[in-house]
Amino acid sequence: MKKLLIIAHCPSPNTQRLADALQEGALDPDIDEVEVTLSSPFECETETVLECDALILFTTENFGYMSGALKDFFERVYYPCLEQERRNEAKPFALVVRAGLDGTGTDIAVHKITSGLKWREIHETLVCKGDFQDGFLEQCRTLGLTVAAGLDNQIF
Ligand SMILES: Cc1cc2nc3c(=O)[nH]c(=O)nc-3n(C[C@H](O)[C@H](O)[C@H](O)COP(=O)(O)O)c2cc1C
Repeated sequence: MKKLLIIAHCPSPNTQRLADALQEGALDPDIDEVEVTLSSPFECETETVLECDALILFTTENFGYMSGALKDFFERVYYPCLEQERRNEAKPFALVVRAGLDGTGTDIAVHKITSGLKWREIHETLVCKGDFQDGFLEQCRTLGLTVAAGLDNQIF
């Protein structure tokens, strides 16, 4: 079984729905060999990141940057993950940002860190921007499905 880890910061009912949609897509019944874990950045242990085969990072944009929760996560896991990347195990990942207005600052900030880690981006950043729309749910479901299907078919 491949392991897909969804790290999601959900400070509101809307963001919880988006995280659930990511998980729902990844748990599509057509996908056989992928185990999906949804975790808050605050609760995710380093070992869980080291052991996963791919990640989806989901954060709100706050003050033009990623959430403090996701930053705390990176601060805890950065050096152990860097050690792993030195052994040429570039981790596949995708980023989803929920932003009231923009999302650019978060996209740039997360990529600075993932570049340092030499993680491999496997889907372009999805920014769910502006007033909440039900369409965001479908976009998240599709992204979750795409990443899980890629793992299932050993594309990543
Ligand atoms: C303290 C705070 C700072 C925020 N800063 C930004 C920001 O810089 N850019 C932005 O696009 N949205 C910003 N937002 C909006 C959040 O991204 C948005 O509230 C969050 O994604 C939840 O969306 P929801 O209303 O659909 O639950 C901020 C929200 C809060 C509470």
